[in-house]
Amino acid sequence: MIWIIGNKGMLGQELSGLLTAQGIEQVGSDREVSILDPEALAGFANAVQREGRRLSAIVNCAAYTAVDKAEEEPERARALNAEGPEHIARLAQRLGARFLHISTDYVFDGRASRPYREDDPTGPTGVYGKTKEEGEERVIAACPKAIILRTAWLYGRHGPNFVYTMLRLMRDRTDLGVVADQRGTPTWAYDLAGAISTILRAEAPEPGIYHFTNEGETTWYAFACEIYTQASALGLLDHEVTIRPLTTDQYPTKATRPAYSVLSKEKIKRTFGLSIPDWRDSLMKFLGSDPIF
Ligand SMILES: NC(=O)c1ccc[n+]([C@@H]2O[C@H](COP(=O)([O-])OP(=O)(O)OC[C@H]3O[C@@H](n4cnc5c(N)ncnc54)[C@H](OP(=O)(O)O)[C@@H]3O)[C@@H](O)[C@H]2O)c1
Repeated sequence: MIWIIGNKGMLGQELSGLLTAQGIEQVGSDREVSILDPEALAGFANAVQREGRRLSAIVNCAAYTAVDKAEEEPERARALNAEGPEHIARLAQRLGARFLHISTDYVFDGRASRPYREDDPTGPTGVYGKTKEEGEERVIAACPKAIILRTAWLYGRHGPNFVYTMLRLMRDRTDLGVVADQRGTPTWAYDLAGAISTILRAEAPEPGIYHFTNEGETTWYAFACEIYTQASALGLLDHEVTIRPLTTDQYPTKATRPAYSVLSKEKIKRTFGLSIPDWRDSLMKFLGSDPIF
């Protein structure tokens, strides 16, 4: 039995849907079983076990994900991204359940010029990244066999994300500017859910940190252009939109974003035999799957 924590979030819902489709038994919780409350977490686990169902793995998709707001609410972000994951890790350790925790490219400073490997030094520049980095450390300390999966630039059907924002702006406007000097890899939550499922089904997965995004790399500007091209071809947009490249300085945000956050997937591909789709192909599947925006 898999326990998805944060099962009403963008990734949590995607994972829940995929595991259901794959016939994998699961339970889920979100805010009603707060990750900030160790007793509530233990109570949920006990209730499941009392029904005679063994929790073999816990996946934590809950987090504080509002990157800019985190700059104003560092304590809340720290509680959710560092303390909460530690509570779950302790419980997983006590239960002897496998623990898979989700982290982010924001743990890096973004000054690299080749894809980040799992053992590259971290150096987060904002509150969100710092609290997620602390979460990674606390998880590994409390549950040494945990797996931490760092991902980036996530979009999917079940939550606000860049693709939906762009589609809405493109539908409402004829001109928009998008940052062209930050590089990364758009990642479809469905593909990430697939990787999580593969790891959960692996016999004795090597613990530690892994990176997962779609393949390839791009900028937010080129991502927006691709969304426009594909959505127009699918008939999701009915007028021309001019997309202008902006520099980061022209689009200031409260939290600084890594200028470069491409993640190397060599380790996860080698370890789990994954074949990862290119970001453009996954975007096409996502847009072709009748997105609600
Ligand atoms: N989105 C991205 O671009 C991105 C990129 C890299 C890494 N990640 C990581 O991927 C993971 C999943 O992200 P996501 O975008 O799916 O996040 P999300 O949509 O924000 O989902 C997080 C879920 O956690 C819930 N939650 C909040 N406080 C909670 C609490 N105290 N106890 C239990 N649940 C609580 C949220 O509820 P409310 O909505 O009611 O607050 C929400 O349902 C996170 O670890 C995130 O850091 C995301």
